Amino acid sequence: MTTSIARIPSGPVALRPVWRSALRRWFLDRQLEGWLRDLTPTASLRETRARVVRIVDETHDTRTFVLAPNARWTGHRAGQHVTVAVEIDGVRVRRCYSLSSAPGAAHPTITVKRVPGGRVSGFLHDHIREGDVIGLEGVGGDFVAPVRVSRPLLFIAGGSGITPILSMLDDLAARGGLADAVVLDHVRSAEDVIGRSRLASLQACHPGLRVHVLRDDDPGGPGRFDPAHVAGLVPDAAARDVYLCGPAGLMDAVQAWWDGVQPSRPLHRETFRMEVPVPRPGAAVRVTLPDGAAVTLSGQGTLLEQLEQAGLSPRNGCRMGICRTCTCRKSRGVVEDIRTGAVSDGPDEDISLCVSVPRTDLELDLTPERP
Ligand SMILES: Cc1cc2nc3c(=O)[nH]c(=O)nc-3n(C[C@H](O)[C@H](O)[C@H](O)COP(=O)(O)OP(=O)(O)OC[C@H]3O[C@@H](n4cnc5c(N)ncnc54)[C@H](O)[C@@H]3O)c2cc1C
Ligand code: FES
Repeated sequence: MTTSIARIPSGPVALRPVWRSALRRWFLDRQLEGWLRDLTPTASLRETRARVVRIVDETHDTRTFVLAPNARWTGHRAGQHVTVAVEIDGVRVRRCYSLSSAPGAAHPTITVKRVPGGRVSGFLHDHIREGDVIGLEGVGGDFVAPVRVSRPLLFIAGGSGITPILSMLDDLAARGGLADAVVLDHVRSAEDVIGRSRLASLQACHPGLRVHVLRDDDPGGPGRFDPAHVAGLVPDAAARDVYLCGPAGLMDAVQAWWDGVQPSRPLHRETFRMEVPVPRPGAAVRVTLPDGAAVTLSGQGTLLEQLEQAGLSPRNGCRMGICRTCTCRKSRGVVEDIRTGAVSDGPDEDISLCVSVPRTDLELDLTPERP
């Protein structure tokens, strides 16, 4: 199946003044960006970039990257994530990482666990050194520390899921929000505790904070998440506000427990990974953009993949329906969510490109990738 981009109807010689001025501006912007990058690799008028100023080994497979962002960095709320962009073999690749530092820290941090065979986590571990520059493409997420602490708190983490919680704990500590908080940190072994010294010093400074490290390899411990063990450690767990982040098995077990003990209040949860089914091949459809340009899609892959195959670069982050970076407005046409089968057929509906497939011709208002 071939793909094509419909061209704007006038050739360069026939450009109207408005196009000429836009083209000149685009050219000058790019030239300026090039000069700035030559001057210092983090300088940019359009892109948030950060120099890695320090790399800290947390465990045998997890590293914290301490960043010095350029002036475009606007900060984050405790618990939010940032889309990190790196160039691997000439291709810009993105993944989301929770900010593990407190909001307002002069040097924000991300803490990355190496996933076996993982493209970006492996690249960050093996190739990024102090002094290197990475792209930061937008902060987001609604897994955030409470603005006002109205109930005692319970944080449940598994593995690298402690990263946004470390940021929340530092933030709450600075705001006097740790008068009654418990952390249940699920790890494989004592060697796998991420942020060990931060957790210890927070606990030392805040008597209202209790941290329990629950090791899978502890012969006397509960092993995996165990509601009976939670009841022993935190008898008033159901009365607390619960913040959860960890691997799918832990998330499912905690959710099932919570639905039983506290069906009236939602858990606050952050997901790092979601299984997204591979979409069945569909018919070729035509997508029209607000400026009238149109592309014909191949019918192979998600809507995001098909738009990329057609030469477009919509904004994206996790590519699994979590971060909402790829959300765009569909003004006409039908798409199907590949996770749920839900159909969006109304006009002016927001859709996530990375978990949608087109079922008819579409009109989309894409947010283009940041340069
Ligand atoms: C909102 C959000 C916040 C996140 N925060 C963090 C964070 O703070 N620290 C952190 O280390 N990671 C975090 N992640 C996960 C991160 O974005 C990447 O998914 C992870 O680093 C793997 O990417 P990769 O390119 O190395 O692996 P890929 O090349 O994408 O995948 C390689 C293989 O590993 C599997 N895989 C992918 N991700 C995971 C995973 N998380 N666990 C186990 N197997 C996986 C894939 O299915 C595939 O088989 C976050 C993800 C999201 C959506
Ligand atoms: S890229 Fe994250 S939801 Fe689509």
